[in-house]
Amino acid sequence: MRIQSIKFKITILYTIALGTLLVAYSSYLYLTLSRGLGEDLDIELKTKTKQIKYFIEEFNRQTFQPGENIDKNFDDAIDMTINLDEYRSRELTLKATNNDWLKSFDHLDLSEDYIYFLNVDSNVPAFTKNVNGEIKAVFLNTVDKNNSMQRILKNIRLNNEYFRLIQEPVYFNGKLKFIILIATSQKTLVMVLKERRDILFFSIPFVLVLAILISKYFSDRLVKPIVEVASVAEQVTHKDLSQRIKTRYNDEEIKIMVAAFNKMIDRLQKAFGHIAEFNSHVAHELKTPIAIINGECEVALRKEQSNNEYKETLKAVFEESKKMLKITEDLLLLAKADYVPENFVFEEFDLNEFFEEICGKERKIALEKEIDIKLKVLTKIRTLKGDALHLRRLFLNIINNAIKFTSKGGVINLTVKADQNNLIVEISDTGIGISSEDINKIFDQFYQKVPTDSHTRGIGLGLSIAQSLAKVHSGKVKVQSIVDKGTTFTVILPILSSPPKSQEAIYTTS
Ligand SMILES: Nc1ncnc2c1ncn2[C@@H]1O[C@H](COP(=O)(O)OP(=O)(O)OP(=O)(O)O)[C@@H](O)[C@H]1O
Ligand SMILES: [Mg+2]
Repeated sequence: MRIQSIKFKITILYTIALGTLLVAYSSYLYLTLSRGLGEDLDIELKTKTKQIKYFIEEFNRQTFQPGENIDKNFDDAIDMTINLDEYRSRELTLKATNNDWLKSFDHLDLSEDYIYFLNVDSNVPAFTKNVNGEIKAVFLNTVDKNNSMQRILKNIRLNNEYFRLIQEPVYFNGKLKFIILIATSQKTLVMVLKERRDILFFSIPFVLVLAILISKYFSDRLVKPIVEVASVAEQVTHKDLSQRIKTRYNDEEIKIMVAAFNKMIDRLQKAFGHIAEFNSHVAHELKTPIAIINGECEVALRKEQSNNEYKETLKAVFEESKKMLKITEDLLLLAKADYVPENFVFEEFDLNEFFEEICGKERKIALEKEIDIKLKVLTKIRTLKGDALHLRRLFLNIINNAIKFTSKGGVINLTVKADQNNLIVEISDTGIGISSEDINKIFDQFYQKVPTDSHTRGIGLGLSIAQSLAKVHSGKVKVQSIVDKGTTFTVILPILSSPPKSQEAIYTTS
């Protein structure tokens, strides 16, 4: 598994995510458990102090005779509390009471606790037997006489062992009589927590190793279809673009990827087909003039020719080379418009001057066929932003066609209009028209259809150049035609400044 691979990334991310979750959840569990155990210990201590208070009350009830010294009675009660086991087993007895009532306090077990009683009046302390000198000192330091009226709970440390300590006031007839301090070991709590901590934290590395193995297994499964699709895609070459990728996996994303791959191959196949067709057209268009030049030269070189014959040969070579030049110029212009439109120079130019110049030039050509070219400018817009040189080429191509496909004596109308956003130029002729089957093909490269009796065969690039040039200007060329009636080409070019609302005829020329 390589570091840059998706498999590696999935495995690592999954493991990190799981590890973080595991540590967070374990810590949460540990803290909840430790708080819960601490609270239990506090409840146990509070219950014990309550039971001791009740025990002392019961002792007084059993033994106290009116007129006796109550303090003496309390001292006896405390003595019995701290020596409870001995009184239970009757090793110790009191004259004033038999020990039978002790049975109701069987559940009171103080054998494990360190207990300290402090008589508030006499300041005399009493301890359970397990309280040795060291513990006694800690007790004496710990007792908080300033807050003797209230319950205090705190942690203390004795001989490297943690204890929980409760300090509880005991009242008699509304007066503070003494303070009880009970310290109970937290050994069990610490042990339980340590055990849990060990289980939780020692199990994490084990779970992480397991997570790595599981995520590796799943990432392998996830990536497998991608690898498989890639290996099939590798077999698709430009020599055989008919192949399509198939997948046996049903995953949504894999299906999307395969569909995208196949669509891309479709497009490539079309593009390759187009290039092959284009090449064969170019070769064909160039082959004819080259063959003519070749033939003319061969004849001229075969035997001595007269001056006139050489002139004729040179004329033919000149004509054919002009055709070849036009083809190469057209192809270069198409390539420029389709692939490097940024090379066009956009500048503001005068619309009237622009169309006057075009019509003037075309009228000279149309003169031969006695065709009238009428120019109508129906907009107040004076300027347009665009590449004037190439837009000129666009309109010349369309008007040239109109002249070419219109019979003697026909009319060509060039109307310049505008709407809110566009300049609209209509070029309509009274020519042969275009049939509905052909109309969708006329913008294709190398498509041409000329009447059989015509001598004006072109190469079929004029309209595709016009369309590409319109697109460079974010515009388009549209066509409408009726066979034998005429054709109207509409050139739509976006204008940057908004045109005036009213659109009146400014001038007309013909
Ligand atoms: N005004 C028109 N009237 C009738 N048919 C037209 C007209 N303009 C174009 N066509 C048809 O569309 C075809 C393609 O036109 P296009 O200008 O691309 O090529 P071409 O004029 O044949 O050759 P080229 O312009 O490269 O010299 C023409 O051959 C013709 O059949
Ligand atoms: Mg043309």
